[in-house]
Formats: sequence, C-alpha cells, structure tokens
Amino acid sequence: MSVKKALITGIAGQDGVYLAKYLIAQGYEVHGLVRWDSDVGAFDRLSRFGRLGVSLDDVTLHIGDVCDPHNMLDLFYHIRPDAVYNLAAVSHVAVSFKTPTAAFDVISKGTLNLLEAMRRLTPRARFYQASSSEMFGNAPSPQNEDTAMMPCSPYGIAKLSAYHLVRLYRAQYDVFAVNGILFNHESPLRAHDFVTQKIAQGVKAISAGRQDCIALGNLNARRDWGHARDYVRGMFMMMQSDVPDDFVLATGQMHSVRSFAEAAFACAGMTISWQGEGLDEVGVDDGGTVRVRVDEAFFRPQELHALCGDASKAQRMLGWQPSYDFQVLVRDMMEGADV
Ligand code: GDD
Repeated sequence: MSVKKALITGIAGQDGVYLAKYLIAQGYEVHGLVRWDSDVGAFDRLSRFGRLGVSLDDVTLHIGDVCDPHNMLDLFYHIRPDAVYNLAAVSHVAVSFKTPTAAFDVISKGTLNLLEAMRRLTPRARFYQASSSEMFGNAPSPQNEDTAMMPCSPYGIAKLSAYHLVRLYRAQYDVFAVNGILFNHESPLRAHDFVTQKIAQGVKAISAGRQDCIALGNLNARRDWGHARDYVRGMFMMMQSDVPDDFVLATGQMHSVRSFAEAAFACAGMTISWQGEGLDEVGVDDGGTVRVRVDEAFFRPQELHALCGDASKAQRMLGWQPSYDFQVLVRDMMEGADV
C-alpha cells in the first residue's frame, strides 16, 4: 500500500508542529506550506520543530502562499495529497483588527483557494478546516455545533466565512471536508503574544529576577483553555470519521485571565492577591510588590468575554476526550516556557 500524504498549511505554528509530529507517527508523508520571509528566512521560523524533537528531514517543506490560487493548484498537482489540514491564518485576534483585509485574504480566500484546488485535482482527498470558537463571539456559553454564531472580530468573521465555504463545498461538490471548531488551545510552543504564554514567560522572568511586572489587558476575559497536543489528536480523529461533519473540541472548563495568572504564579511558588478595580487593578505578591498591572493597550476594540465549549458531540461520535486539565496545562506551560 502506498504511503499516505498529508499537506499542512501553517505548519510553522504551534498546531502545525504538533500535528506534523502526530501524522509522522501515524506513517504519513508530511508536506508543509511555509510563507517566504525576507527578514528571517522561511525556514528560520521552524524552531518549534526542534523543541518538539521533530527533525526537519522528516517533513517536506514548500514555500508558498494560500492567497495565491495558482500556487495552490501547483502544490496539489505536485503533491497529490490524501489529507489537507488548513491551519494557515492571521491567528492573533487583536492583530486582525489592525489588518482585517490580510486576515480575510489568508483565512477566507486562502480556504477557498485550497478547496478549489482540491476539488479540481484531488477530489478524493480529505480536508480539515481550522475553524475557531472565536466564531461564536458573545453567544451564551456553553457553545456547541448548534449555537448561533455572532463573531465580534475580523478574525472571527473571516473564520466564519471559511467555515461556511467548507460546508458549501461539502454539500455542493461532495468533497470530504470537516470543520474543527476548536476552543483556545495552548502549549509551551504557543507564540509569546497570546495571553497564556505571555503570562507563563512573564512569571518565569519575574521569578528569575529578570522582570518586575506583567502588563495585561482584560483580566476578566474567560476562556476554555485546553492543550494543543489533545486538539491535534482530535483533528486527526475528525478526518477518520465515516461521514464529514463539524465538531467542537473543548474542555468544558472556563477560567479567567486573572485565574490563569494566579495558577502560573502558584507554579513558581508565589501567591498573588488582587487590589483595586478596572484600570487600577493590580496583582501583588506576598511582599507587597506589584507583579501584574492593567494596560489599556492590550484591550480589544471589541472583547469576547466568555467562551466555554460543549464537546459532547466529539466525545460521542469520535471518542475524543481531552487528557490535560487546566492545572496540568498551566504546569506544562510553566515548565516549558522558553525565556
Ligand atoms: N493576547 C493577549 N494579551 N490577550 C490578553 C491580554 C494580553 O496582554 N490580556 C488579556 N487578554 C485577553 C484577551 O482580551 C482575550 O479575551 C483573552 O485574553 C485571550 O486572548 P488570546 O490569548 O490572544 O487568545 P484569543 O482568545 O483572542 O484567540 C485564540 O483562541 C482562538 C480560539 O477561540 C487564538 O488562538 C485564535 O487563533 C483562536 O482561534
């Protein structure tokens, strides 16, 4: 039997690397799409592979861009993938407010370009779309596959458009295409400007005496944080199902940014207590030193206040369960934080 080929767009990111490792272990020939970059060089962005113990010799990298439809046709023509995991995105919600057109191009048009290339050249391939809980916006929690979506960021709206394209191609062209509606998922490989990694790295730097304080935005924001390792396993499980469908992956547990900070400080042996309100709120340590302060610069133009997922469909139909709980996730990030 010939070896199955997987194409991962956005392979340089946290999920891309965990997924590549997972698929290699499943016996796949893994191809990854990487954007060209004049400053750092496309392959210098791949340091996460080494951190996860994956050799770059075990993946075939292609420089390209999902925004270019001809490039996508070329890629599908040459690789002939059996499975396509579309993880490419402008993945930072706050950044999408500054670059809404770029967010739309990559997320929405990029998905369309991939779906078109797939239906024309490899119509029997399977397609995974990285849909996001950000699509729910401020819809009441817990959110599941039937919850009405009310996105409140350019990122969320672009993701919702891509989600509908996947559903349309599934219905119209009979391709195997699934939406994984993933709630926040973190790991030591998380980029430094997402709140969990910012806190983990900040707490480590504080306990090493290299930093005094962490400046954060909305401490009241609540998220359902899981571990990326569990979520890439869920992506693979969706792609093995008999019938293509859409699935929420989540832990069902919600915590505030404030409690993530408390848990991270606790891992470093520090207790944080909170004083003041709003912009004046601070987190102080046992000695009375301010370790967390609020900075308006990190507020979102529109905030998504609370996300908590109901993954019972994935549990029932795929047998998927998260193995990391909140405390274990925070500990893993604190142990792995690279500062
Ligand atoms: N980034 C950041 N930095 N967020 C902060 C900060 C800060 O200093 N302070 C408070 N927050 C709040 C944000 O306002 C948000 O409510 C929450 O912390 C989480 O922010 P992020 O970690 O940036 O993640 P996100 O929820 O916006 O988006 C992530 O999850 C989505 C799934 O719901 C990303 O991974 C998206 O790509 C993903 O789709």
